[in-house]
Amino acid sequence: MNIDKNLKGKIMLNIQYGAWLVCAAVAMTGFSVAAQTNIQPGTEPTTTQTAVPTALEQQKATKALQEQKALKAQKEALGAVIFNDVSLSSPAGQSCATCHNAASAFADPGKAVSEGAVKGAFGNRNVPTLKYAQFSPPLQKEEYADEWSGGQFWDGRVDSFKEQALGPFFNPVEMNTTPAKLAQALRSAAYASLISAAYGKAVLSDETALVDAAADALEAFQKTQIFTPFDSKYDYYKLELVKLSKLEERGEMVFNSGGMCIDCHLGRVGQRQIFTRFVHHNILVPPNPELPFYTQPTAVNPDGKAFVDAGTGNNPKLNAKDKLVAKGMFKTPTVRNIALTAPYMHNGVFKTLEEVVEYYSKMEKFWPPEVNENPSRLMSTSLSISEDDKKALVAFMKTLTDGYDAPPELKAKLRAHQESLGYWE
Ligand code: HEC
Ligand code: HEC
Repeated sequence: MNIDKNLKGKIMLNIQYGAWLVCAAVAMTGFSVAAQTNIQPGTEPTTTQTAVPTALEQQKATKALQEQKALKAQKEALGAVIFNDVSLSSPAGQSCATCHNAASAFADPGKAVSEGAVKGAFGNRNVPTLKYAQFSPPLQKEEYADEWSGGQFWDGRVDSFKEQALGPFFNPVEMNTTPAKLAQALRSAAYASLISAAYGKAVLSDETALVDAAADALEAFQKTQIFTPFDSKYDYYKLELVKLSKLEERGEMVFNSGGMCIDCHLGRVGQRQIFTRFVHHNILVPPNPELPFYTQPTAVNPDGKAFVDAGTGNNPKLNAKDKLVAKGMFKTPTVRNIALTAPYMHNGVFKTLEEVVEYYSKMEKFWPPEVNENPSRLMSTSLSISEDDKKALVAFMKTLTDGYDAPPELKAKLRAHQESLGYWE
C-alpha cells in the first residue's frame, strides 16, 4: 500500500477544493481575477498590480459572501427536513432517517438488513453509518494494483451524495417511489416554500429540477458538521486533552501494530483521522444465513438461496474483466462510532465487536467465505490475537464514539484547536 501517494492525493484534493471555493467566492464578489493578477492572454504575468477594492466593492463582496452563506444554510435546513420526511416514500411512512438513525451514527442498529417502505421487502446489505462518509472520494482504480477506492455504498457505485440520494428514493426495497410521485409529494409538502426559497419558484413546476433540488439539499445536509463532529474520546486524547485508560491505550497499540488494522482502517484527510482510506478489499467474510433476502420473491432475488453478494464485483462502473478481479470486495468502512452500529460487515453477519475481533483473530473458524476469490493481500487470516489484546482492541474501538462527555472547557478547547487546524473549512 502506497500510503504517501494516497494521502498526498487526498490532501491535494483538499487544497484544490479550498482554492476553488476561494475562486468561486472571488468570482461571486464581482472582482475581476484577471485585473488582480494582471494576466494577459498569451503573455507571461510580469507585474502584479493588485487593484485595491473600493469601499463599495468591499461592501458588495461582504454582502455576496453573506448571501452565499445564508443560501447554504437554507439548503442544509431543507435537506434536514427532507431527510426526516416520512411522506416521501410509497406507501408513506419511511424516510432516510428510518434507516439512518441520528442517535446511532446514522445507521440502523440491531438489524442485519432493514425493511423497506413496503412491508416484507428487504435489501441485502447492512445500513452503513453516514458519518464521515463525505470524505470518501469518487471511485478510482489504483495505478499500481487491481485495487479500487472510494465511492458511496459498500461497492462504491456512485460518486456523490447527490447521485446517491436518488438510489433509496426509487429502490423498491427502500422508499419505493417514482420521480413523478416524489415531485408531487415535495410540491404539496408543508415546506414547499423552503424549496422555492432555496432553488427558485420555477423548480416546483419542473419534475426533474425538483427531484434534483431535493437531492442537492440532502447532499448539503449530509455535508454539515453534524456528520463530522470529530468529538470522540479519541479526538480529545489525540489533542492531549484527556488520557486513555491502560486497556484502551493497549488497544490502540494492537490496532496499529499486531492487529494490522491500521493497514486498512487508518487514513487521514488533512489533519483529520477518518479510520479508513476507503479502499475496497475482500476480507473473506462468511455469508449471513439469517438474511431475509435469501427468501425474497424471485423478482427481487432471482438467485434464491444461492445468492452471493459480489460487492464491488457487481459495480456497474467496472468492465467485465475488472468485475472478476473485484468480486467479493467491499469498501473498508470507518470504525468511528463502531460501538453504535452493530451488527457488522456488509451483510451484518457479526453481532458484536467481540465477534468481529474473534473473526480477525482466526478467520477459518467462521468460513467458508461468501466469496473465496481475490482475498486482500493486506490481511492475515490467522492473527491469533491473545485474549487480553482482544479485550483491548474492543475497548479502543469504543473510544471512537462521537459526543464524548467532556466538561465544557475541554469541549471549547477541542473545538478551538480543531478549527485552527482547518477541520471544517
Ligand atoms: C430501507 C432502508 C434505507 C433507507 C430508507 C435509506 N437508506 Fe441509505 N442506505 C441503506 C443501505 C442498506 C445502504 C447500503 C447499500 C449498499 O451499499 O448497497 C445505504 C447507503 C447509503 C449511503 C452510502 C454511505 C456509504 O458510506 O457508502 C448514503 C449516503 C445513504 N444511504 C443516504 C441515504 C439517504 C439520503 C436516504 C433518503 C433519501 C437514504 N439513505 C434512505 C438503507 C437505507
Ligand atoms: C485488508 C484490509 C483490512 C484489515 C487489515 C482490517 N480490516 Fe476491518 N474491514 C475491512 C473491510 C473491507 C471491511 C468490510 C468487509 C465486508 O463487509 O465484507 C471491514 C470491516 C470491519 C468492521 C465492521 C465495520 C462495519 O461497519 O460493519 C470492523 C469493526 C473492523 N473491520 C475492525 C477491524 C479491526 C479491529 C482490524 C484489525 C484486527 C481490522 N478491521 C483489519 C478491511 C480490513
